[in-house]
Amino acid sequence: MSHTQEARRTPVLHLENVTRVHGQGAAEVQALRGVDLKVHPGEFVAVMGPSGSGKSTLLTLAGGLDTPSSGQVLVEGVALGGLNRKKLAQVRRRSVGYVFQDYNLIPALTAAENIALPRELDGLSARAARREALAALEELGIPELADRFPDDMSGGQQQRVAIARALIGDRRLVLADEPTGALDSTTGEAVLAVLRARCDAGAAAMMVTHEARHAAWADRVVFLRDGRMVDESVSQDAASLLVSAATNSMKVDE
Ligand SMILES: Nc1ncnc2c1ncn2[C@@H]1O[C@H](COP(=O)(O)OP(=O)(O)OP(=O)(O)O)[C@@H](O)[C@H]1O
Ligand SMILES: [Mg+2]
Repeated sequence: MSHTQEARRTPVLHLENVTRVHGQGAAEVQALRGVDLKVHPGEFVAVMGPSGSGKSTLLTLAGGLDTPSSGQVLVEGVALGGLNRKKLAQVRRRSVGYVFQDYNLIPALTAAENIALPRELDGLSARAARREALAALEELGIPELADRFPDDMSGGQQQRVAIARALIGDRRLVLADEPTGALDSTTGEAVLAVLRARCDAGAAAMMVTHEARHAAWADRVVFLRDGRMVDESVSQDAASLLVSAATNSMKVDE
């Protein structure tokens, strides 16, 4: 794609010089220091970096769950900082699918009800929302869990329900914080294939992962270190290194 074409497309996610400071005084932590990032339709970005480098902070800001200390976050060209609470809640629900590191399912609702809830809030009938929820469970390979409650599921099952909830509806931006952490490698790969397919259909996704093998599903890998994003050209080289490393390790496994 030419640079002009690139410039004309509105990124699904655009972070402009974003910083986030947690705490105050002696307890002050610079979780993010001037991060710039664009994620375009169809793009799958993996975020890697050591523990405490700011990966989850980056994701919560991108999803409008937290506010930057400076800089701005735009989702589909809309600056989140300029929205009132109601509008922000609408963007979060309609445009963003979020998979939390600790799933965040509602214990009093079944799997299908958890997944259907955001669609019902969108105004869909309970019946239509359930139909979509069942299709999402099917896509994640767990249709038998529809009427099960979170407390009666394994961690891996809860994680897949949380992913189904993030993918329901026409979400343009999928944010996933270690979405395969509780899954065995076969199930993990299947979930990544679902995320990949969603991006190939035009969504944008950003996923935190510790595993190079999983990052290999992404188009691009960005690295965080002490709240700073590593230079993009460097990350592209690193991405191809990671991909070849992952490919080699798969060969060894066979
Ligand atoms: N609510 C908070 N209050 C104070 N400090 C915080 C808060 N949230 C995060 N931090 C700090 O900000 C930094 C970045 O944290 P973050 O959770 O984004 O890291 P991470 O890369 O996701 O780590 P991990 O791989 O362990 O999940 C850390 O130093 C962390 O201690
Ligand atoms: Mg984290």
